[in-house]
Amino acid sequence: MIRPNLPTFAFLMALGACTTSVPGMTQAAAPPPGVQGPQAAQPAGPFTLPPLPYAYDALTSVIDAQTMELHHQRHHGAQVAALNAAAAADPSLGALSLEQILATVSSRPAAVRNNAGGHWNHSFFWTVMAPVGQGGEPSPALQAAINRDFSSLEGLRTAFRTASMGRFGSGWAWLVVRPDGTLAVGSTPNQDNPLMDDSPFKGTPIFGNDVWEHAFYLRYQNRRAEYVDGWWSLINWNEVNRRFAAATQ
Ligand SMILES: [Fe+2]
Repeated sequence: MIRPNLPTFAFLMALGACTTSVPGMTQAAAPPPGVQGPQAAQPAGPFTLPPLPYAYDALTSVIDAQTMELHHQRHHGAQVAALNAAAAADPSLGALSLEQILATVSSRPAAVRNNAGGHWNHSFFWTVMAPVGQGGEPSPALQAAINRDFSSLEGLRTAFRTASMGRFGSGWAWLVVRPDGTLAVGSTPNQDNPLMDDSPFKGTPIFGNDVWEHAFYLRYQNRRAEYVDGWWSLINWNEVNRRFAAATQ
């Protein structure tokens, strides 16, 4: 949680004790201790903002609590609200999973592309991070694949850093499982991702980092490399292992 001070206290009160005032979302009861976010919020549409699986201040060794709260509630929350607005205009969207929307996104309006992409990307992003020391390590099967495709974990880290730094402007860096079962690192612009039917970089993401400035600017300003290097210590390998197993079974 943001450190208590009067402006922050007023801000939290305005939020209704961690509920959101993002347009299109309704007020809700405060979440239980240890879990931040509007998990009881009732969306004005079929898409919902998932709660974080940890407190806003759980990742502060790399990402400060205020950035986490703004990123989750305001940035991600706004994308959910905008996607619900798009679903109000096109009710057929509400019958589809996010993955189904992404798989047909090339024929949809830009607002659907950006907000469905943003909603999927951020929902995924929260799950592949964990407090430092709690993320475990690559499973033997994943480590073997990393060694096969990147020589070593350090080789993967270098490739991921290069992709993260090479993305001009806003976007995401990814580790994906290709259809042939190999691992690949790449990046996508804006809120695009490797599940989009027209993405030049395709695969099933097993981890990814948000390199938009909103993900790190309060602490790191323009120092993306410092954020990217620190972010590696937040990887939730337990979740990545699960996703790798699901993608290769
Ligand atoms: Fe973001």
